[in-house]
Amino acid sequence: MSDALKNIAIVGANLAGGYAAGALRKQGYDGAITLIGEEPDPPYERPPLSKEMLVHPDVSPKTLFVHPLSFYTEHNITLRLGVRAEALDLSGKAVTLADGSRIAADRIILCTGGHARRLNVPGGDLGNVHVLRNLADSRAIAAHLSPGKNVVVIGGGVIGLEVAASARMRGCEVAVVEAAPRLMSRVVTPEISAFLELAHRAKGCVMHIGVGVQSLHGANGIVRAVETTSGVQLAADLVVVGVGIDPAIELAKGAGINCGNGIVVDEFCRTSVPEVLAAGDVANQPNPYLNRRARLENVQNAQNQGAAAAASLLGAGEPYAELPYFWSDQFEYMLQAAGETVICDQAILRGSVESGAFSVFYLTAGVVTGVLAVSQPKNIAAGRRMVMKHSQPDPAALADESSDLRKLIG
Ligand code: NAI
Repeated sequence: MSDALKNIAIVGANLAGGYAAGALRKQGYDGAITLIGEEPDPPYERPPLSKEMLVHPDVSPKTLFVHPLSFYTEHNITLRLGVRAEALDLSGKAVTLADGSRIAADRIILCTGGHARRLNVPGGDLGNVHVLRNLADSRAIAAHLSPGKNVVVIGGGVIGLEVAASARMRGCEVAVVEAAPRLMSRVVTPEISAFLELAHRAKGCVMHIGVGVQSLHGANGIVRAVETTSGVQLAADLVVVGVGIDPAIELAKGAGINCGNGIVVDEFCRTSVPEVLAAGDVANQPNPYLNRRARLENVQNAQNQGAAAAASLLGAGEPYAELPYFWSDQFEYMLQAAGETVICDQAILRGSVESGAFSVFYLTAGVVTGVLAVSQPKNIAAGRRMVMKHSQPDPAALADESSDLRKLIG
């Protein structure tokens, strides 16, 4: 560790930032750490925001905050919350904040995450039109969910489908508008999209797929209806927009750091500028399991990459290799996916889709490169190991539910 290293600033008091701060102390760094966040809250986990907190708004979620507040005091980590970082002053070794203050920084870890995209159509800024990215968004949406309310969800991705399921579970009338020809196309194959569509329809959600949004109509500044590109008007008391995120690269770009789809980093989370590293949703890094660069927008990556960036900053890093993984709860279905679950030569189904509990193994050139399971967590565990070990199991055995998956890992 360099003797000159006295001040580390982490921009983004989120999952990646919280893990990076904790990891710096775990690795023995004893200089100053400042964790800067625009939101008023210390780092928290986002999964409950679209699930538990919408379905059971009066119950505290089982897990929310990454660390109790006492953790930051005990570990001498300074929290600067509720204030935006405005610029990186690399020659002056500081981060400047919106309130005019300067945070000394020999090194900076950027965990700036992403901005929820807004709808750029007439009426897109009416009242009761929400995105769902942070705690305040989740609380505002939860307050509107009650039996009989008309909820229109725009975007049939992970956020959209989780919100649709949660709203339906609260007794709302739910319509989903997805512009692409199928649901969750960014992360699953057409067969899984079809399963999700059927599952949501069976629960009473009205699905408008392959249809965009023309405009939103309101009365007294509050949304009343969504008009689709096919001319259908959907009644709306609440609109939730889940049309993806844009990586928050402004600070990095302003400092001349190489950016593309996110902040470009190497396998040690280092940006094109020696003093700055990046981790979490914003970091675009080579991924050995996908054989390409990727920006992984998931919980596990935020935690592990945040910690990896901290280790790397202190000179104790190893090349970061994260098997992409996400899960999504929609109604009673728990969907889990690991590795490459979109591109493959062969998709092998194990179990029956109709039963609502099944798994799919994705093979390329005979090698397992990804696995997706619906309500079969044990199969995900076995599938992950297959991907990591580049297993080449007999496809017929993989499909046979009576075979022992552990024996197929190889
Ligand atoms: P997404 O990229 O998963 O899905 C966006 C969806 O909106 C796509 O299906 C896209 O085709 C559709 N879309 C785009 N423009 C549209 C338009 N104008 N009209 C209608 N549909 C349109 O992004 P999403 O769901 O917003 O999620 C945002 C972030 O939150 C991602 O980083 C995601 O990974 C993360 N997240 C992860 C979860 C998980 O891992 N379980 C749960 C919820 C969110």
